[in-house]
Amino acid sequence: MNILPEIANRRSVRKYTDKDITDEQVALLIEAARLAPSGSNKQPWDFLVVRSVEMRKKISEIDNNQTWMMTAPVFIVCIGNERYRGDGKMECVIRDSAIATEHILLQAEHMGLAACWTGWYDQNKMRQVLELDELCYVVGVVTIGYAEEKPTGTPRRVIKYRTL
Ligand SMILES: Cc1cc2nc3c(=O)[nH]c(=O)nc-3n(C[C@H](O)[C@H](O)[C@H](O)COP(=O)(O)O)c2cc1C
Repeated sequence: MNILPEIANRRSVRKYTDKDITDEQVALLIEAARLAPSGSNKQPWDFLVVRSVEMRKKISEIDNNQTWMMTAPVFIVCIGNERYRGDGKMECVIRDSAIATEHILLQAEHMGLAACWTGWYDQNKMRQVLELDELCYVVGVVTIGYAEEKPTGTPRRVIKYRTL
């Protein structure tokens, strides 16, 4: 199995069609996150699926007022939750939850959906609107939908690596 084409073709999409996403599709995206690796297999994450216009509006306003987000029918809020570790290592919680979030992006690409990871918000304001406490850290709000645009590729640095 070669998943490099899907990794290479994935783009951050910021304009979506009116077509909705089904609960079954959402469940597959969450399943991809659920299977992510994590330090000591602590799986320190929670997810919120946001469909309501009111809540999507509140979130996008806090997320630097990125109005394009409202074209996406679904947001998945990806949360690191320190309770699943219980040792205060928030950096590990954030690391692991970010991996799970990337799984969502790649599964969306595989399913012919479009997504964009957003993170342009004040953490405390985002916690407040989602009624989360300080043991939770919102690693990203992922917009999900069908692409209405085809963004051109973004450049990547050439990686020069050492073999030891
Ligand atoms: C942690 C993180 C936060 C991001 N936040 C935003 C955001 O708030 N708004 C946005 O339009 N794009 C956001 N992006 C998308 C990046 O701009 C995008 O991934 C990058 O430019 C590379 O483009 P590509 O995803 O199409 O390959 C974010 C990406 C990551 C990983």
